[in-house]
Amino acid sequence: MSDLEQEIWRRLAQVMDPELHRPLTELGMVEAVKVRRQQVTVTVKLTTAGCPLKGRIEGDVTTALAGVEGITEVTVVTSVMTPDERQKLTQELRPVRHSSVTKDGSRVRVLIVGSGKGGVGKSTVAVNLAVALSQRGRAVGLLDADIYGFSVPRMIGVDRKPVVLADDMILPVEALGVQVISMGMLVDEGTPVMWRGPMLTKLLEQFMGDVMWGDLDYLVVDSPPGTGDVAITLAQRLHQGQVLLVTTPQVAAAKVAVRVGEMAKKVGQGLLGVVENMSYLRCPSCGEQTPLFSGQGGQELAQALGAPLLGKIPVEPAISEGGDLGRPVVWTHPDSESAAVFRQVAEAVEAASWQVTTAVS
Ligand SMILES: Nc1ncnc2c1ncn2[C@@H]1O[C@H](COP(=O)(O)OP(=O)(O)OP(=O)(O)O)[C@@H](O)[C@H]1O
Ligand SMILES: [Mg+2]
Repeated sequence: MSDLEQEIWRRLAQVMDPELHRPLTELGMVEAVKVRRQQVTVTVKLTTAGCPLKGRIEGDVTTALAGVEGITEVTVVTSVMTPDERQKLTQELRPVRHSSVTKDGSRVRVLIVGSGKGGVGKSTVAVNLAVALSQRGRAVGLLDADIYGFSVPRMIGVDRKPVVLADDMILPVEALGVQVISMGMLVDEGTPVMWRGPMLTKLLEQFMGDVMWGDLDYLVVDSPPGTGDVAITLAQRLHQGQVLLVTTPQVAAAKVAVRVGEMAKKVGQGLLGVVENMSYLRCPSCGEQTPLFSGQGGQELAQALGAPLLGKIPVEPAISEGGDLGRPVVWTHPDSESAAVFRQVAEAVEAASWQVTTAVS
């Protein structure tokens, strides 16, 4: 191999697969490197046809080879792995990257965001908290367990399907530094999901067991409201999980959330704390705080369950706008009051004791 070819391979060894987080060369994805005159053609073997990250990989290879002395033109050609090649790759990856989020002894801290009532801001809290933890340098996964009413993909700006390497090897999609999986990536937003309990449970099992989360510090789980099928499955499968309850200041919302907290305790999950959302509106001109709802739901819920109140989030237009545009407020408005509260909650999550309790089933 010529010096020039060696230099090219050395540079290619630094190009990572964006989802597998390993060098293309190690993954057997560089099929060929041909140098003719001052032109180099690299053939990259993608794991699946129609790989959504094709453009990104082509760009990364081109950038890596830009500026190599003696090369004036870089061409990237793509091909697709044969089923055998893909199987070999998945076998190699399985032990390294496979999920351990359901195992009791695993290192990952599972944070289940729940509420009694719907519409109190669970998904908003789950998404902003996941991004805030990632901004603190943590490896974060975000599992949207709201199968019927998924909203995470829209809120964090994911609009593509996950890559499926094998039946039991689904790659989460990265957005804003967070690894995300949601039913919303598998069906169109307008399609109603009309599944009965067993199918729901099966999909959740897949999300927990077959998604290659990799080595996470945190798995944030956004749940549907209440104590239905999903909450029960999560409670049974994620023993080591700790629950974060979201409520509005309204007494009614807090009262219903008590039941969710009690259920978590019953199955041996920890209660990390309570977040009160939509606590007040701050007047943009005079700075005065106006409560939107009567009641101290957060405080009351925290007291009833013996858990700390970790923060009170104001109502801010940037929160709902960000949710609709796929740009959470901690990302777009880091200086806002709400972003500061989300960061404060993230800090409390990190400071909390994450002792694993034993499940009582
Ligand atoms: N503090 C806030 N300020 C402004 N808008 C907010 C705030 N919190 C939540 N919202 C908006 O309120 C709506 C409901 O919030 P979200 O979807 O997070 O609630 P949820 O508890 O997950 O609902 P569901 O039970 O339907 O899953 C969203 O449109 C969201 O953008
Ligand atoms: Mg939600």
